[in-house]
Amino acid sequence: MNGQRKRIGILTGGGDCPGLNSVIRAIVKTAINIYGYEVIGFNDGYLGLVNNRFKKLTLTDVSGLLDKGGTILGTTDSFDPFNMVVDIDGEKQERDMSDRIIYNLKMHDIEGLIVIGGINTITTGYKLSLMGVRVIAIPKNIDNDIPGTDTTIGFITAVNTATEALDKLHSTAESHHRLMLLEVMGRRAGWVALESGIAGGADIILIPEIPYDINKIARKILERKRNGKNFSIICVSEGAVPAEGTELPDIICPEQIKSVYGVSSQIAAQLEKLTHLETRVTVLGYLQRGGEPSPSDRLLSTRLGVEAVNMAAEGKYNKMAGIINNELCPIDLEKVANKCKHVPVDGELVRIARNMGVSFGD
Ligand code: F6P
Repeated sequence: MNGQRKRIGILTGGGDCPGLNSVIRAIVKTAINIYGYEVIGFNDGYLGLVNNRFKKLTLTDVSGLLDKGGTILGTTDSFDPFNMVVDIDGEKQERDMSDRIIYNLKMHDIEGLIVIGGINTITTGYKLSLMGVRVIAIPKNIDNDIPGTDTTIGFITAVNTATEALDKLHSTAESHHRLMLLEVMGRRAGWVALESGIAGGADIILIPEIPYDINKIARKILERKRNGKNFSIICVSEGAVPAEGTELPDIICPEQIKSVYGVSSQIAAQLEKLTHLETRVTVLGYLQRGGEPSPSDRLLSTRLGVEAVNMAAEGKYNKMAGIINNELCPIDLEKVANKCKHVPVDGELVRIARNMGVSFGD
């Protein structure tokens, strides 16, 4: 290091979420104030690292960031530097740009790289660590599908947003005697739907981990109707799938179903046909990814950001900073890369939902 101040690099990769700026702020303040490090922020995830688009981050850059949504560094979703699509003489080809990353890190004299992202970002970080790059990962995405940590940055705020939406749908569903479907994000895991569905009092929750039978959903709705509840709230994870052999032929969505895309449109059309109840769909979409982080996410982001810099200072590289049972605990990247933390179908949350009378369509 020939007397120079130690340098760490940071990048935010994958889908954005509330809390990213909070974690950038925690990293920069800890690195500069506690360890005297310099922090080089790369723009737009690994793409910026490949193209050497960067900014030296100062305390001024992160002042007032704690409650700001998004990421001041920018991000790219699903960019893989090991398979970068480049245009050569008008022909698209895939190129491995990892050597360019190693060169740029060396050129900046960066000792360690902190990557803040979901499974794809962390897996890319793991592959770089196998090439000698010293990497520390921070788990982030609204899906909460990253093993090695109870909660990912962004998840709690997304659950708050979805719960608020479910609360609002109750009054209109009851007034119009309708089925109201709320489609939420979560990619391959059903955490957002499960936790917001419980918190928001959904009658039916559909998640990827429990394939649904549309006829059983209809039976639950008609049973509610017989008991005087001629409306139902259904929280649908975007990854929900029908159980093998129970699929109905696709129905062209009737005009009156105000929906755009997503799995819910088909489910709504089928339920309207089976129950003869008017059905409406709301796809919450990117509202779950925007806005300011909840206080819980600000706290989680700050804890993980500080911990990541401490790990760099202690030379604990090639690990992810995670929190299990509210205790900070690093986990080897190889135990996280390419994995997905699914909802345990016999877990406590599914059990308590069933105790509350929630149907999972199974
Ligand atoms: O991983 C976060 C997430 O919001 C998923 O829940 C969702 O399926 C996906 O990103 C959407 O990706 P994009 O922002 O590329 O459309």
